[in-house]
Amino acid sequence: MNIVLLGAPGAGKGTQAQKLVADYGIAHISTGDLLRAAVKAQSPLGIKAKGYMDAGELVPDELVIDLVKERLAADDCQEGFILDGFPRNTAQAVSLDSELSELGKPLDSALLVAVEPDVIVERLSSRRTCRACGFTGSTKHESCPNCGGEMHQRDDDKPETVQNRLDVYQSQTAPLVEYYRGQGILMEVDGDRPVDEVYVDVKNLLGL
Ligand code: AP5
Repeated sequence: MNIVLLGAPGAGKGTQAQKLVADYGIAHISTGDLLRAAVKAQSPLGIKAKGYMDAGELVPDELVIDLVKERLAADDCQEGFILDGFPRNTAQAVSLDSELSELGKPLDSALLVAVEPDVIVERLSSRRTCRACGFTGSTKHESCPNCGGEMHQRDDDKPETVQNRLDVYQSQTAPLVEYYRGQGILMEVDGDRPVDEVYVDVKNLLGL
């Protein structure tokens, strides 16, 4: 199963992906997670990416596309993958199609997790992430339920950055909904319901 998860920042893409990974062991490729790891490691990529991420802007395509190509070649992606946060604009989507066509692994589905902007702002202001294992939770998690690690607020979840991320989503990423509808692989789930209800529909749509 080769899928792309689409949706605004905070729509719940990572949350649904974590559940699919836990239940089915599908490889999860989150460009946000890969970039945050590069920033933490202060690698050349991380040093270049940090300013864009802190401002809620997209990291330049050439950096992200190379990162995804490398990740798609890894052993754990050979039986299928969930792309989360990639592609983010038409250039990335076209590049992905071309790469997957060369690999002989076309996308099966692009699944849009649909949530209204006012819900997004509320979710992102209360999101907390584990510093140790990356688990995504909220202010109700005092420590990480997975590993007991410290929960913290992502720099780009501060209110001044969230609006820009939403604007960037509308202008650059939202057009991909029509891109994948045109390919006949778009599916949509109402993400403004409890996590487990959304997950039931996600599994049904994916035939799991
Ligand atoms: P990235 O990490 O990809 O951020 P994002 O797309 O903005 O997505 P989020 O992680 O914020 O949200 P999500 O949909 O995964 O929601 P989550 O499940 O966490 O990107 C960060 C930055 O990296 C970008 O701004 C950019 O700079 C750069 N970048 C990344 N990819 C790039 C690319 N391809 N090209 C260029 N630059 C790139 O849920 C959010 C919260 O809501 C959580 O607290 C969760 O517990 C809660 N929640 C989830 N579902 C529900 C529900 N159903 N009900 C109630 N609460 C829920």
